[in-house]
Amino acid sequence: MTQETAVLSAKPEMALESAAVRKVFVKTYGCQMNVYDSDRMTDALAKDGYVATDVMEDADLVLLNTCHIREKAAEKVYSALGRLRELKKKKAGEGREMMIGVAGCVAQAEGDEILRRAPAVDLVIGPQTYHRLPEALKRVKRGERVLETDYAIEDKFEHLPAPDKAKTRARGVTAFLTVQEGCDKFCTFCVVPYTRGSEVSRPVAQIVSEAQKLVDGGVREITLLGQNVNAWHGSGPNGEKWGLGELLHRLSEIEGLARLRYTTSHPRDMDDSLIAAHRDLPQLMPYLHLPIQSGSNRILKAMNRRHTTAEYIALIARIKAARPDLALSGDFIVGFPGETDEDFADTLSLVETVGYAQAFSFKYSTRPGTPGADLEDQVPEDVKANRLERLQALLLKQQHAFAEQCVGKTIDLLLEKPGRMPGQLIGRSPWLQSVNVDAKSSQIGDIIRVRITGTGPNSLFAEVVS
Ligand code: SAH
Ligand code: SF4
Ligand code: F3S
Repeated sequence: MTQETAVLSAKPEMALESAAVRKVFVKTYGCQMNVYDSDRMTDALAKDGYVATDVMEDADLVLLNTCHIREKAAEKVYSALGRLRELKKKKAGEGREMMIGVAGCVAQAEGDEILRRAPAVDLVIGPQTYHRLPEALKRVKRGERVLETDYAIEDKFEHLPAPDKAKTRARGVTAFLTVQEGCDKFCTFCVVPYTRGSEVSRPVAQIVSEAQKLVDGGVREITLLGQNVNAWHGSGPNGEKWGLGELLHRLSEIEGLARLRYTTSHPRDMDDSLIAAHRDLPQLMPYLHLPIQSGSNRILKAMNRRHTTAEYIALIARIKAARPDLALSGDFIVGFPGETDEDFADTLSLVETVGYAQAFSFKYSTRPGTPGADLEDQVPEDVKANRLERLQALLLKQQHAFAEQCVGKTIDLLLEKPGRMPGQLIGRSPWLQSVNVDAKSSQIGDIIRVRITGTGPNSLFAEVVS
């Protein structure tokens, strides 16, 4: 007799409760880490009979997995909560209960304020305590408003269920896997060290076992995640020190795992073995997200980035020497306090020097509690807007140039999902571009040879090479 049936026969009323289907609607904001966490929370709730729904109105539980990185991101949460309050009221009028939970980085940063400003919220849960979610919901059911935002001492990953085969299959042939969480870098603009806590690396065995499970569920490409993913460190089988390079080697031994990526990296944590992995592992895709934030050394210093533009450029040269077809992506902030026209011109010229395949850029957003918020010389909004527009125009030009330069090339394409037209699939290039190609849906998960024939606004077109 399994443990489950033992429980069933002992407590029939509990069996009834756990058999009832409840629906959870999860809305995810922010970075890939939140995407990963949302799936883990959904998996944890499945044990209590929750199934995921895409229809908010049907949900017994609505979870907002929030982002605190810029003011706008945080504001979105409060306006969503305003709408949810109305829905909760409407459903209560129909005799249906709906619980509202706020997770993620806003929960961590402003938990008390959320409970004060939004009386409809039943539960606030920070990223370090997701494994306590089922228990927290039980407390809500007993009438409590729950705040779980301490930096948990237990390892949440030990307790959160790894993705099972069926769910993995439903989620597709590419997957995220968090290997590291938190940040000790304290860039002066950034909330992450406060919302995600200090750097923690998951142990090798846990990561390998989760990767194997993903592959068993049909995943062909895994992106390792961390706020500073290349700060990951662990121990090998004989207790030797491992960095991300060694971990990638280990993961590349998993049969059927065709592609590996990792994001986001900090330039200071790119060590020799990680660079060598780009040379030695064909599974490791030639695409690297390596943010620098600014092209001005003065601003980099004020940001506490602890690297210079020259070091960054030299680093890229070393990685490209190891993997010549490597393409780069990055993040930029314009209008950090004290940024002058010359500083901004330095950013443009760095972008010209490096040449990005793709990049994200943002106006500096003052975040309460970070050292940047107290700096004088905040840059006026219109100056920030103008700089952002100029930077984005240059980055977009580079993105298009990179796409154009792919035309005529024969590449490997991982077929990922149905395309917009019947008979078409969308695949992923080694450089993370979406590529449209004629193929059968039974081929999803295959890697095929295609020739790039043209470019569209956000994707490429290709034909199969026989
Ligand atoms: N750990 C990563 C990225 C974290 S946040 C790294 O170190 O690069 C993602 C991006 O958001 C950052 O790279 C930065 O460009 C941007 N960002 C962070 N804080 C910001 C702020 N206060 N204002 C504007 N952009 C910000
Ligand atoms: Fe934020 Fe800097 Fe840490 Fe990245 S390295 S998460 S930008 S503090
Ligand atoms: Fe946002 Fe938190 Fe990610 S602030 S970017 S959700 S780490």
